[in-house]
Amino acid sequence: MKKTSLGILIIILTIFNVSCKENPNDNSIENKTNSIEKKVADLLSKMTLEEKIGQMNQYNGFWDVTGPQPLDGDAAKKYEHLRKGYVGSMLNVRGVKEVRAVQKIAVEETRLGIPLIIGFDVIHGYKTLSPIPLAEAASWDLEAIKKSAQVAAKESAAAGINWTFAPMVDISRDARWGRVMEGAGEDPYLGSEIAMARVYGFQGDDLSSPETIAACAKHWAGYGFSESGRDYNTVDVGTSTLNNIIFPPFKAAAKAGVRTFMNSFNELNGIPATGNVYLQRDILKDAWQFDGFVVSDWGSINEMIAHGYAKDKKEAAELSVIAGSDMDMESYAYVDELANLVREGKVKESLIDDAVKRILRVKFELGLFDDPYKYCDEIREKEVTGSKEIQEAVLDMAKKSIVLLKNDNEILPLKTNGLNIALIGALAADKTSPLGSWRIAAEDSTAVSVLEGMQKYPDNKLTYSKGADVTIGKTEFAIELNINTEDKSGFPEAIETARKADVVVMVLGEHGFQSGEARSRTDLGLPGVQQELLEAIYNVNKNIVLVLNNGRPLTIPWADKHIPAIVEAWQLGTQSGNAIAQVLYGDYNPSGKLPMSFPRSIGQVPIYYNHKNTGRPVNPGSNQVFWSHYSDESNDPLYPFGHGLSYTTFTYTNLVVDKVSNDIFNVSVDIKNTGKVIGKEVAQLYIQDVFSSITRPVKELKGFQMVELKPNQQQTIKFSLSKDELGFFNNGGEFVLEPGEFRVYVGGSSKTVLESNLIIEKQSIK
Ligand code: NOJ
Repeated sequence: MKKTSLGILIIILTIFNVSCKENPNDNSIENKTNSIEKKVADLLSKMTLEEKIGQMNQYNGFWDVTGPQPLDGDAAKKYEHLRKGYVGSMLNVRGVKEVRAVQKIAVEETRLGIPLIIGFDVIHGYKTLSPIPLAEAASWDLEAIKKSAQVAAKESAAAGINWTFAPMVDISRDARWGRVMEGAGEDPYLGSEIAMARVYGFQGDDLSSPETIAACAKHWAGYGFSESGRDYNTVDVGTSTLNNIIFPPFKAAAKAGVRTFMNSFNELNGIPATGNVYLQRDILKDAWQFDGFVVSDWGSINEMIAHGYAKDKKEAAELSVIAGSDMDMESYAYVDELANLVREGKVKESLIDDAVKRILRVKFELGLFDDPYKYCDEIREKEVTGSKEIQEAVLDMAKKSIVLLKNDNEILPLKTNGLNIALIGALAADKTSPLGSWRIAAEDSTAVSVLEGMQKYPDNKLTYSKGADVTIGKTEFAIELNINTEDKSGFPEAIETARKADVVVMVLGEHGFQSGEARSRTDLGLPGVQQELLEAIYNVNKNIVLVLNNGRPLTIPWADKHIPAIVEAWQLGTQSGNAIAQVLYGDYNPSGKLPMSFPRSIGQVPIYYNHKNTGRPVNPGSNQVFWSHYSDESNDPLYPFGHGLSYTTFTYTNLVVDKVSNDIFNVSVDIKNTGKVIGKEVAQLYIQDVFSSITRPVKELKGFQMVELKPNQQQTIKFSLSKDELGFFNNGGEFVLEPGEFRVYVGGSSKTVLESNLIIEKQSIK
């Protein structure tokens, strides 16, 4: 080539290169994305096969264990792998000092210095805890839920963490399953709204901010439908349930930009989720175009052997990577087997490249390559942990999560002076149980107890008596926690205390570790001798306020029949006792609504409001038995989905459905505060597609709004219904809106008060 043409070529190449380069002054998302994609590709091109596979390997830290400890999981091997660059992520490493130590190895001792992404179960807070997620869902307050995730992100990010394994968006209709505490309940619409709020809260607008962390939608998919509510059990569900009930919150999380998904332990229709091509490739990565990464659940790659799906660890690794599981949490399958699988031609290197790109993409987005120690600032850690802002947010969330189930004769709120109050139940003084399950970083005894909360109202006489413990164990992983106490030696003292009191506040329910992972129950009554205690106290004083602490719906028909006031206070986290006391004394007017139906009896489970009608839904008349019912129990729940009272009352009138166009409708309704105090109400909109090509539920939530009204104040609220709300997925997986009659319901629970209808004309369907 002549000198001149070479010069021209160089000039052209230089111009081309400059124009392709990231423009540092262009902050557009497109420019950022282009630049990240380029960086990912550059880095990938420099990596050896082993280094790539290293990015797909996640190890547990050296102390907190949130799954079965693998035999080959020794610390020496982990350190050696860290140094070689064979680890892409660690979980359960926490605190700036510890995170810095492992990050330093990854960044400063490995060939390419790729930072680790540090994962942790920030499920409802880090050290300062907000209510368990099921309780937060009971607030129906999306802003508060978002704020709660935001402060959880802030506190955990200050402790070195940059990735949470939350939100859990599994819909469940089965209170026997202990993990219902970790989700948003039984409804896909509410669950989707909450999934989005949590993702926005954790990730914020800018993932690279040191105050936000990557979120993880889990468990993909079907985990909440484990047969008989037994954790890790088989899941067998049809297309309609998958598309219309299970998938929507995951899709909502993906739409909100969640950066990671976690697959699940269960098999789905015969194929373990971890090895499931349909779930991870066809739906998530192809149909939904998800470009983040999928982490396996703890050891779930290896567990495919026990499932009877993979014959050994090698085959498990092969099946998982082909199915689209990008990162291996604690199976040691990818790190041990993938390189050979690629060399043997069983796994294409392009699949490895795709997984690594996804992981690196999220690391770049987090800004870890710009500053791998951005989450490692000791001063920030000190300032942020337990800060006033966080304490206020979790207290606010706790108050909003409380549901007033029953309040006969306005026994609540309590007067703030002149009362002699007996406070009874071990949970009333417990400072650990209210933290609930998934509280790995929170110290024992850091919750405000109900006793402490009520002591802040000194003008009443308050006498505490335990009555009875709940369980005999106090340790998180101790098997004894599932053994309820039979010790009734504290009954006489509690009975005497109650006898002398004007009013008795009893705090009963489950210990914080009786729900959560691997905490399935076959009995949903009050554990241990608590029911007997309740009845013994009732015999001497009927003026009882029952405060429930629990991680799932309980069966409490006796209490519902006899006890005048029942407050559902779940496990409310660090500020639990303050929130409960403020509600009991009326300083906060409760507005929570149940996100799950409360059964009358365990035999009704699974019980959920959006059930199908059946061919025999109604009692055909006396002496007739051939209709869909129980012969020993009503079909109705004790408390329906969406139920929750206030210290004031609301009436609903004037439901109007207006047709805007052929398939768009406006719905309006008037709500009035007809009681004596200011209060908040969650107005709920339900629809029913009366006849369709596949049968539809008797009711489906399609909107809700919270209004705050002063006494006598009335407000008109408006909803809109269009294809998104009126349509459904048919069995071909297609989202359709079918013509015909729809019913529209509005009210303060799924037992709605007002009903109207709308018609979609045939010609309107496109
Ligand atoms: C197993 C649980 O199923 C999952 O939700 C959790 O994130 C991991 N363990 C890590 O602790």
